[in-house]
Amino acid sequence: MSELYIGLMSGTSMDAIDAVLVDFSQGIQLLGTHSVPLTDDLRQRVAGLCVSGPDEVERMGRLDSDLGEHFAKAALGVLAASEHHPSQVHAIGSHGQTIRHRPQAPPPFTLQIADPNIIAERTGITVVADFRRRDMAAGGQGAPLVPAFHAGLFGGSPGHRIVLNLGGIANITVLPAGQPDAVRGHDTGPANILMDAWCQARQGLSYDAGGQWAASGDIAPELLQRLLAHPYFARPSPKSTGREEFNLAWLQGEILSLGRPVSDADVQATLLELTAQSVMAGILDTGLDKGELLVCGGGAFNLCLWNRLQALLPGWTLRSTAELGLAPTWVEAAAFAWLARQTMLGLPGNLPAVTGARESRILGAIYRA
Ligand SMILES: Nc1ncnc2c1ncn2[C@@H]1O[C@H](COP(=O)(O)OP(=O)(O)OP(=O)(O)O)[C@@H](O)[C@H]1O
Ligand SMILES: [Mg+2]
Repeated sequence: MSELYIGLMSGTSMDAIDAVLVDFSQGIQLLGTHSVPLTDDLRQRVAGLCVSGPDEVERMGRLDSDLGEHFAKAALGVLAASEHHPSQVHAIGSHGQTIRHRPQAPPPFTLQIADPNIIAERTGITVVADFRRRDMAAGGQGAPLVPAFHAGLFGGSPGHRIVLNLGGIANITVLPAGQPDAVRGHDTGPANILMDAWCQARQGLSYDAGGQWAASGDIAPELLQRLLAHPYFARPSPKSTGREEFNLAWLQGEILSLGRPVSDADVQATLLELTAQSVMAGILDTGLDKGELLVCGGGAFNLCLWNRLQALLPGWTLRSTAELGLAPTWVEAAAFAWLARQTMLGLPGNLPAVTGARESRILGAIYRA
């Protein structure tokens, strides 16, 4: 049986569909990578579905199809880039694009779109998708789902490790030394989502490269206090969050309610500090005081954020996951290749201690080739 799997991921940043081809026959080997940037049109349509509005069902149906085509292109792209044929691949794990994540709502729900039927049809490969909802049906948050993969890949070290994914949202996977069953994890809050939104609104750029704009500003302490007062930060784990809680409208409301102007660069500096401090709080909360902090996600390329985290966490040595063989950009997509493999083997993908589900579950639905 083939041990080749494709992982497809587009996260809360809505920057790109990341595709990886992974060989699991001996550990994990990355055979190919490919990224399909989300067009402005697609990004606006996703953003338009992250809030309630008219014609939602019609817009969602169309976007589900269009994203299905783009996800299929990303899968075919990674095959072309690595010179592999669909028949060599056992299955694709597709996260889809989240358009709503409401784990606290009565009833809770989470929605990821990018029609898996289209991906299966265009590629001729079996697709596993809709990973989150089974965990939620079992009482979990449906997120984060990557910790089991992080634990398999980065666990077993003689010292404590924490994996920090800096995507749109930041999430941590805690790997205490010598306690493989004590893996924990949760979303700590925003990573890039607010910095990106502010940068887009004020600079017309999709992100603040290297955090240089943030570095040019000063932290506004009162604004920082207001932002840190968001109830999400005080909520106990298990917990997960998204665009519904952290978005430009919320940020602008908090700036307005300050009652005095803050320069654009100072807001950016404050947002970077918000990310750094909320990550720090999540890490201090683990009770572990030293070890390795393995950083992945696009935020790993934000040097200013990296330096700030290292300063706030002197006991922790920051390392890029690239040093351990998997570049920060591809970790999450590889996780969905791994999750698809779990499903195809009839094995669970969630960690109840992380998501809060009653028990571990085989995740996802299978769309046969
Ligand atoms: N050179 C860079 N400097 C600063 N930030 C960067 C750089 N490169 C990428 N980023 C940030 O990383 C983001 C993309 O990260 P990533 O793809 O990991 O997030 P995501 O799509 O939300 O994924 P997920 O939800 O799976 O974590 C960009 O939107 C940007 O904010
Ligand atoms: Mg991304």
